[in-house]
Amino acid sequence: RKKRIGVPDIRARKGGEPLVCLTAYDAPMAALLDPHCDVLLVGDSLGMAVHGMDTTIGVTLDMMILHGKAVMRAAKQALVVIDLPFGSYEASPEQAFASASRALAETGAQAVKIESGTYAGETVRFLTERGIPVMGHVGLRPQAALNDGGFRAKGRSQAERDRAIAEAKAADEAGAFAIVIEGVAEDLAREITTAVKAPTIGIGASAACDGQILVTPDMLGLFDWAPKFVKRYASLRDEVDAAVGQYADDVRARRFPEAAQTYEFKPSDG
Ligand code: KIV
Ligand code: NA
Repeated sequence: RKKRIGVPDIRARKGGEPLVCLTAYDAPMAALLDPHCDVLLVGDSLGMAVHGMDTTIGVTLDMMILHGKAVMRAAKQALVVIDLPFGSYEASPEQAFASASRALAETGAQAVKIESGTYAGETVRFLTERGIPVMGHVGLRPQAALNDGGFRAKGRSQAERDRAIAEAKAADEAGAFAIVIEGVAEDLAREITTAVKAPTIGIGASAACDGQILVTPDMLGLFDWAPKFVKRYASLRDEVDAAVGQYADDVRARRFPEAAQTYEFKPSDG
């Protein structure tokens, strides 16, 4: 069995072979993803992807830890990162440390991710210096949806571009070991990737990043809608719909179960 990928391994991939990253929320899927991935992110996208919420605002640290434990039971070689959810880290570096240390201690994951606005440099440094590796997340920050009026790609105006670059530099200079860039055009992603020492991981941020991440159920085609930047590598929605439709027909027509799925004991079986 391969040794688990560590934070220094991820750092060392700057400008090298692209980092393969996906989100994971539960044990069976984590087991399938793990052999293929460098990083598994227990993303707060689980609010939408698993719990049917409209945004990530209602996701709690307890939810993240529950899903993080499930992923850690199955992931053997990928680096596992836990998202800190809305309200669990923004108030102060001390609040972030309390949340992040719980997330790591209770799950066994190796790092946390925060949506790092320009204010967050202090928090990234506070955690990093105290032994907690931090992944940053800049550009489209879903936890800012209330201020932004939803999820909208960043970098249309010079002010937005400058802000995304400042966010990335703040996280980088404070010691973030990797930085997610979400929802920006290629030229901005390239500018950020060139400006920071940490490897960048893009989602809707072009091929100009040092790696890529997608929300796993999006790329597997589980939902009827996915953002423009998602490539669907499977159609799980159609597969599940066809399978369950067949099952329903079989049950109603008494075609399932058949002999092969039925217990039959003779008295001698004891
Ligand atoms: O919550 C999430 O899934 C994320 C990414 C996809 C980067 O933050
Ligand atoms: Na997230």
